[in-house]
Amino acid sequence: MTQNENTTEIQRVSLADVMASKNKTPLVCLTAYTTPMAKIIDQYCDVILVGDSLGMVVYGMDNTLGVTMDMMINHGKAVMRGAKHAFVIVDMPYGSYEESPQQALQNARKIIGETGAQALKLEGGADMAETIKLLHEHDIPVMAHIGLKPQHVEKEGGYRVKGKTNEQISDLINDALQAEKAGAFSLLIEGTIEDVAENITNSVSIPTVGIGASPACDGQILVIDDMLGMIREHRPKFAKLYANIGDQIEDAAKTYAEEVQARTFPSAEFTYHTKVKR
Ligand code: KIV
Repeated sequence: MTQNENTTEIQRVSLADVMASKNKTPLVCLTAYTTPMAKIIDQYCDVILVGDSLGMVVYGMDNTLGVTMDMMINHGKAVMRGAKHAFVIVDMPYGSYEESPQQALQNARKIIGETGAQALKLEGGADMAETIKLLHEHDIPVMAHIGLKPQHVEKEGGYRVKGKTNEQISDLINDALQAEKAGAFSLLIEGTIEDVAENITNSVSIPTVGIGASPACDGQILVIDDMLGMIREHRPKFAKLYANIGDQIEDAAKTYAEEVQARTFPSAEFTYHTKVKR
């Protein structure tokens, strides 16, 4: 899916387009949290996710549990200002949907209403089926996030690849089937082995988007800060480095500091001068 090159009008990727991508050209998905980033990546993405990973990569939190509705709404609005082509999905933050389907509906309406995003993502499969169903019945498209679920890592004792035991595999397939039956338009599969991702992808008729879940999925997503080298302390095995912006920023800051201290910046080129003779 690319922008129509013959017109200047930008056509937004629709829910139908995303759903029709099953078994076709893989969906290109990235996270974004700000307007400038959304503007830069928009034309190359089918989907932009305003992920609650922003708690870690933008706010420096240890996990995603402290992310609030206000954060998701503000960053969702920022991304919507920049993304005119991609289908934009906003994450429902921890604590905003697990209590009851009604709580989820109320907060889902608030996020969609205030951001104008096209869809929401929440973590869960079989355990969230009732909630997904209610949101679907109220025309709120839901992507279900299964496999490694970052909002559950504290409870589960860390970031662990899923699908290594028969029990985990049948849980994952059940999650996928229940989420699809409840009306999810897509599944995000995080942190699982190739055979399992393939099995899930072949078991459902909605597109799967993988992160650390092999090429067997119908699309791929990465956290933008990981693939740009912005997070230098740790990068997951699956996060290929497509650019090393972190090092470039450090080099730029170092050169700037040297030039300021040597009084070579600002030079005449970067200084206002009067044309009036005094
Ligand atoms: O919050 C996020 O960025 C995610 C990633 C796993 C894509 O859900």
